[in-house]
Amino acid sequence: MNKTILVLHGPNLHLLGQREPDVYGNTSLEKINKKIKAKAKSAGITIDTYQSNQEGQIIDKITKSDYDLIIINPAAYTHTSIAIRDALAAIKKPAIEVHLSNIYKREDFRKKSLISDVVLGTISGFGENSYYLAIDAAAAIFAGD
Ligand code: DQA
Repeated sequence: MNKTILVLHGPNLHLLGQREPDVYGNTSLEKINKKIKAKAKSAGITIDTYQSNQEGQIIDKITKSDYDLIIINPAAYTHTSIAIRDALAAIKKPAIEVHLSNIYKREDFRKKSLISDVVLGTISGFGENSYYLAIDAAAAIFAGD
């Protein structure tokens, strides 16, 4: 298929596996990234992954790289970052928003995403499977190109 995807992980997601496992699961980010890559490979998609705790670095990755699609879990920046929203709106490439937890089932401050209306769609609440479902969605989008 020859398509490329950047998978971006926001703040504190480097702690996956140790961080609130009842909310975010027991699997480390490294393992999730490996599974994302394996799944994408079988669909002929090449993946780069990137995690940062810094808003500016995430914005640089969004605006200074060239992928066919971005999958992003903005983590806490989902609820606060107009700058990440603007970066996603500025690029011409499609994006999918991902959350491990169901943000609509949690505290009120998590129910508002500043990102959702500048992406194609949001997958929220399926644990690590949210990422793998996003790969399926991306493959379907590419197939419909
Ligand atoms: C999260 C949900 C956010 O509210 C939270 O700040 C995170 C992770 C998720 O994947 O469920 O860090 O994006």
